[in-house]
Amino acid sequence: MLKIEGLTKHFGGLAAVSDLDVSIGPGETVGLIGPNGAGKTTVFNLVTGFLRPTKGRVVFEGKDITTKKPHYLAGKGIVRTFQATNIFPDFTVLKNIVFAHYLRPRISFWETVCHTQSSRRKEAEILQRSHKILELVGLEPVAGTTAGTLAHGYKRLLGIAIALAAEPKLLLLDEPFSGMNAEEVGTTMQLIDRLEQRGLTILLIEHNMRAAMNLCQRIVVLNFGKKIAEGSPEDIRENKEVIQAYLGAGEVIA
Ligand SMILES: Nc1ncnc2c1ncn2[C@@H]1O[C@H](COP(=O)(O)OP(=O)(O)OP(=O)(O)O)[C@@H](O)[C@H]1O
Ligand SMILES: [Mg+2]
Repeated sequence: MLKIEGLTKHFGGLAAVSDLDVSIGPGETVGLIGPNGAGKTTVFNLVTGFLRPTKGRVVFEGKDITTKKPHYLAGKGIVRTFQATNIFPDFTVLKNIVFAHYLRPRISFWETVCHTQSSRRKEAEILQRSHKILELVGLEPVAGTTAGTLAHGYKRLLGIAIALAAEPKLLLLDEPFSGMNAEEVGTTMQLIDRLEQRGLTILLIEHNMRAAMNLCQRIVVLNFGKKIAEGSPEDIRENKEVIQAYLGAGEVIA
């Protein structure tokens, strides 16, 4: 489904990502892990069109998408969440999801303004879909709550719900568990599991090795922009270079 080939990104003299090759098959959940500053988010920015690579290419469903823009890629089904959640804090939870639907190219602005019969039908569909997404992520009970007042874990779930409104084929999650307490991590892990069971392809950035190992069939490890290991969670756990990279960064592998 996704093929990253020789992907390289330089920021001035810094090689944030170096000659990276990663392939992801349909329905797979692949983890992208590594210490702070390893280049994980930069890979997401490159795949989703927020940055242009210095070298290399990204192929999605057989098509070269290297120079495509985020909006176009979202329309094709490549959707990401952000490390810092982006929600509309003054909107209710439900309105955040309804609004996310309008960011898609399917409903034209004029159709909405003119309020045609077909646009009214689409609006009803969107409302129904929005409730379904909220049910799926477990936010339906707080559908009427102002998003900015939600607890941190709920805000992060809302970030995932907003991404789901774009009907992704490939969902890229950037540290979905960051700042969550143990209970919230558990809930979010169950949600990612459900998404996986529904056949979604997932690329998961995670700082927390334990969570990544529980969810992913395969893990790619980055350090200083380079892939230092790739394999099953069991292989990665035992990998000396990986352990060294995490210890070198003063971090502990859980
Ligand atoms: N837009 C940018 N301009 C300059 N340098 C950048 C930019 N984005 C990232 N970097 C640098 O590239 C390197 C990789 O950053 P990146 O955010 O991809 O790491 P990361 O693995 O996501 O780290 P973290 O776990 O802290 O989120 C870092 O040294 C970072 O400072
Ligand atoms: Mg990051």
